[in-house]
Amino acid sequence: MSDAHVYPVKPETAAQAYIDRTTYHALYQRALAEPDAFWAEQAERFLDWEQRWHTVSDYDFESAHIRWFDGGKLNVSVNCLDRHLDKRGDQVAIIWEGDNPAHDKKITYRELYEEVCRFANVLKTRGVGKGDRVCIYLPMIAEAAAVMLACARIGAVHSVVFGGFSAEALKDRILDCGGKFVVCADEGYRGGKVVPLKANVDKAAKHCPMLEKIIVIQNTGGKIGWQEGRDLWYHETMAAASADCPPEPMDAEDPLFILYTSGSTGKPKGMLHTTGGYLIYAAITHKYVFDYHDGDVYWCTADIGWVTGHSYVVYGPLCNGATTLMFEGVPTYPGPDRFWQVVDKHKVNIFYTAPTAIRALMAQGDRYVNQTSRQSLRILGSVGEPINPEAWEWYYHVVGGGTRPILDTWWQTETGGIMITPLPGATDLKPGSATLPFFGIKPEILDTNGQILEGAAEGSLIIARSWPGQARTIYGDHKLYIDTYFSKAPGFYYSGDGAKRDADGYYWITGRIDDVLNVSGHRLGTAEIESALVLHESVAEAAVVGYPHNIKGQGIYAYVTLNTGVEPTEQLRKELDELVRKEIGPIAHPDIIQWAPSLPKTRSGKIMRRILRKVAAGELDNLGDTSTLADPSVVQNIIEHRVVKG
Ligand code: PRX
Repeated sequence: MSDAHVYPVKPETAAQAYIDRTTYHALYQRALAEPDAFWAEQAERFLDWEQRWHTVSDYDFESAHIRWFDGGKLNVSVNCLDRHLDKRGDQVAIIWEGDNPAHDKKITYRELYEEVCRFANVLKTRGVGKGDRVCIYLPMIAEAAAVMLACARIGAVHSVVFGGFSAEALKDRILDCGGKFVVCADEGYRGGKVVPLKANVDKAAKHCPMLEKIIVIQNTGGKIGWQEGRDLWYHETMAAASADCPPEPMDAEDPLFILYTSGSTGKPKGMLHTTGGYLIYAAITHKYVFDYHDGDVYWCTADIGWVTGHSYVVYGPLCNGATTLMFEGVPTYPGPDRFWQVVDKHKVNIFYTAPTAIRALMAQGDRYVNQTSRQSLRILGSVGEPINPEAWEWYYHVVGGGTRPILDTWWQTETGGIMITPLPGATDLKPGSATLPFFGIKPEILDTNGQILEGAAEGSLIIARSWPGQARTIYGDHKLYIDTYFSKAPGFYYSGDGAKRDADGYYWITGRIDDVLNVSGHRLGTAEIESALVLHESVAEAAVVGYPHNIKGQGIYAYVTLNTGVEPTEQLRKELDELVRKEIGPIAHPDIIQWAPSLPKTRSGKIMRRILRKVAAGELDNLGDTSTLADPSVVQNIIEHRVVKG
């Protein structure tokens, strides 16, 4: 761990970075010693306020009462657009790169501002107002950012649903947040394939009585269903809308968005983020972690359906007046050199992606990287799952030519922004470590007895105090918010991740310690997948666990018990696979289904997942204590029929 290879900060990186080692330590200490003074300064530096706050922070982790900048008033779209117009009206805000390499466009701050104001008026004139929920189900087209900002302009709360989720998953999310409008596209493109977005919305809408309007962006021009009176074309409504839309003054604690994420139990939870604290945290982390300087071209490959797309494609970069690249496609289309072709085409300086993409590209060989220049690159980032040292080294040496720092950034939907990360000019790197906490973040390691550990240690990762970007609640279920994040370690935020801290104080995230999977950087709950599987009439019971997968990080391994008398067949396997795709989306389909006549259970009937995980991972001589099993022979059967793949 601590004797891992260390890559010291390069003097040339430190020389041009905002934060060097000394500044990092000084600011880190200051942010912990005088948090309110520190964050008040950042609030002034990073944002324009219509009215100053009276209280910087006010939080209590017992009741999960979390407020930042109370009394302050501002508007997120003003901070991301209006205030940049004088200086940057003609600067490119968004570089859009299509799935098809021949398609791209550049949108200036002024153009984006006008688009946002127009669409804000479209929503407003149709009765959408402050606090109303608008669901966004779009591909990675530039309009997606405009729609998010238009909601922010009038105080509507957006809930972006990843375009890869199924109609069923979309329906659950519309219902949970009470979505009044959905903004979608006719279809999306991804890797040369067409995604039927409007058709999915039509299916979902049948079960959503509160849904008033569906606004459709014409993207592919494909044939779609249409319901007069309910469905509207984006371009038609926009043509009639004024580009003058005064922003709604929002309280710092007014909701900005809801974003659903998977937990260890039940359905996905709507994490609610608010206005002032979230925006400051997205902006400050974007600027210092990526060392964003004026004129840089910055590219985060995440989809806007995930929190990374919210904070680091849209809000952080635009708040800082950056040029942000939005990519509609996938890393391997039309070929495995696509990322690097885009880097060269748009002279990208800062590049932020996920380990699963790095591993997939690494598997294709170096030549796809080597045939591109990548000279413009200065900074490389990683997010979403642990990056294995081998992938880190490849990213560093092959993609980065051994000269660009790799920033392994740890954070979550709940945290709003990056929590543990190197800073390019300040932090020596160790492959596989997310390194040190950001300003204001105080991580701790908790052991299984609830003790906080000092020095080098391993346990649960918890956070000792609030930071402005923290989620405020689970939409509609504050009790669940308290139970999930604030009751396991009273007085702390409980992350659900395990971590090691080495002798240098560096953090190494070891992965989820609950029943949450991280499949290709997508967060999925085992319970959701199990619920989908048991919907099948032939299935009696199902248990889903993760197992190590070379490219995806984790693969999905499902143990399925069929009803008595039902024979397992290939057809049935296909049906179950299809069922999960339909209920959740293709990202959740099981890599492996093992037929299990019964599942290992304790005498009280609890499934022993620990054993199922070990079997799936092939750790057969290390099953641990099996003495509490009701029927030990079950395990033998499971081991004998283990499926090996991936
Ligand atoms: O397990 C951690 C993993 O992703 C989880 C959060 O997923 P989500 O809310 O979808 O947000 C992903 C993007 C921020 C975490 O609980 N994770 C995220 N970043 C890292 C990571 N694991 C290890 N290293 C990281 N850098």
